[in-house]
Amino acid sequence: MLRLLGIILLLNTTINAHAHPDPHSFANSDAVRITEMTLNLEVNFKKQQLQGSNTFRYQIITPDSQEIILDTRDLNIKKVTYQSDQNSGKLKWELRTKQDNLGQALVIQLPEHIADITVHYHTQPQASGLQWLDAEQTAGKKHPFLFSQSQAIHARSWLPLQDTPSVRTPYQAIIKAPENLRVVMSAQNQAERSTDGVYQFKMPQPIPSYLIAIAVGDLEYKKISEHVALYSEANYLDKAAYEFALTEQMIKEAEALYGPYRWGDYDLLVLPPSFPFGGMENPRLSFITPTIIAGDRSLDSLIAHELAHSWSGNLVTNASWRDLWLNEGFTSYFEARITEAVHGTDRMKMEAALNLQSLKAEMADMEPHLQALVVTENIKDPDDVFSSVAYDKGRFFLEWLETKVGRLTFDQFLNQYFDHFAFQSISTEQFLSYLDQHLIKPSNGKIKMSAVKDWIYEPGLPADLPVPTTRKFKVIDAQLKGLILNHQNLSKIKTTDWTTQEWLHFLKALPANLSQDQMTSLDQVFKFTEAQNAEIAHVWLLMAINNDYQPAFGKLIHYLQNIGRMKLIVPLYETMAESEKHLSLGEKIYKAARSGYHNLARFKIDPLFPSLSEQQEQ
Ligand code: BES
Ligand code: ZN
Repeated sequence: MLRLLGIILLLNTTINAHAHPDPHSFANSDAVRITEMTLNLEVNFKKQQLQGSNTFRYQIITPDSQEIILDTRDLNIKKVTYQSDQNSGKLKWELRTKQDNLGQALVIQLPEHIADITVHYHTQPQASGLQWLDAEQTAGKKHPFLFSQSQAIHARSWLPLQDTPSVRTPYQAIIKAPENLRVVMSAQNQAERSTDGVYQFKMPQPIPSYLIAIAVGDLEYKKISEHVALYSEANYLDKAAYEFALTEQMIKEAEALYGPYRWGDYDLLVLPPSFPFGGMENPRLSFITPTIIAGDRSLDSLIAHELAHSWSGNLVTNASWRDLWLNEGFTSYFEARITEAVHGTDRMKMEAALNLQSLKAEMADMEPHLQALVVTENIKDPDDVFSSVAYDKGRFFLEWLETKVGRLTFDQFLNQYFDHFAFQSISTEQFLSYLDQHLIKPSNGKIKMSAVKDWIYEPGLPADLPVPTTRKFKVIDAQLKGLILNHQNLSKIKTTDWTTQEWLHFLKALPANLSQDQMTSLDQVFKFTEAQNAEIAHVWLLMAINNDYQPAFGKLIHYLQNIGRMKLIVPLYETMAESEKHLSLGEKIYKAARSGYHNLARFKIDPLFPSLSEQQEQ
């Protein structure tokens, strides 16, 4: 009997050891793991394809493994070869059946002895991780543009690899592009343009697959401080240099908080406005939307955020997407600390208050299981885990820990945490056991593990959440209290010196339902329809749709045709799609703007206008 139990236990542990580490990857990385990659690709704008190869080295973890499994999606595999000092030749391979959201497993028979394996392939125009822009869709209008967005699981649509954050590899690349264009990657970049269109890259540190990135375009280069340079189309270069001038100081503050920046230089790539995100923390080269160029540095916390990922995410990475909050929650906390150091406590608190307001609003409509920091139920598409829960609930959880033990102790803890897990991918449970040992136990009862687990595994927000308050918003609330919203009263509100955050709070503090007269007065006094700040315009345009304020609709059309950042455009389309009166306006605008949007944006907006996709299918 005991023996039988022993066998069952043994079986169980074997099964666990072989349990799939990441449900969103086909890779058998627990048996055979890629350790290094070299990309060799040619960029073909006419065919909208990357063509070439990925050569990789690997390590056998489970002896006698016969095959290595990679992730692919919409890739055309031509052949697989191997090469070692002794031998070279072709390898057998097979693409397994396509699965929704995940793509296809590429199974390669391993050669007899360890060798470099090369997969020869090309991408398809619909690659979910690439956006190909025509010249007209760029600011300069003369040259086409290409950029990648690999997070969460889109790297597999432009290179065959083990597409899971639990595998980290260094990479190198040789990229051939049209001669008049520049190529940049999430790696060491060369400041000079090449004369023959060939660019070489090296990322010496091991990084997870979702951080592999490329962009190709008519990119100018401008060094703006000791460790920071900008890449962008010429039109944004000077404006961006002013807007992001505090980046160097942010790096210094970040290092003072959590230890050395370990990636060499830190550069920023300003993308065309169709970039679907605010920013993407590609190592050494964050990708940034131009919609944060406000002229007054008021939206540069986004730079603090992407920079902060150089520790939380790029250095210590979530092992799977269920643990996303380890990346985004830590980064949001860290972002706030950098912003506070660079712009002061008022700015940080105002942003905190605005974020908490959005978090509460978003959570109100969310199923309970999605409100936990760790999403334990099956997630079909990992892009769906990116809600303000991972970001802001995660951030407030860390702030809660900070208030329990004090800033000094908490900073020391975080500093050691980043050092301890540097260049590793970890699960929430690994974090918890480290937290228990290094913060909870030494805190002598100041923090209860049961309360920590509530934050992590339970829906909602705990009662002792640290609520951010700021005098600046109270002044606005006091002026608005009981105010009849007419031209005369509005003109008396003291708005001199208001920052973006105060304008946002003011707009959000107004009643949801406003009359035409009230909207007109607001517009006449504050010129909201003319707002150049993309965040302020966004909130105003939402109000304009909700209150059918047609004088702002011209601006609405222009805004949606020129911006592709999902956070700014999707809510506008949703609001139009929800109202009978504005559904056809939404359809009309989307029909004209759709071709300029990224695939990811289309995935989100298409379902809002089903009649449009029916037309397209016909
Ligand atoms: N890693 C994210 C971008 C991302 C989000 C990629 C979802 C794939 C799926 C990036 O660090 C980020 O969080 N960007 C935010 C900015 C931030 C200040 C909250 C964004 O894009 O708005
Ligand atoms: Zn982030």
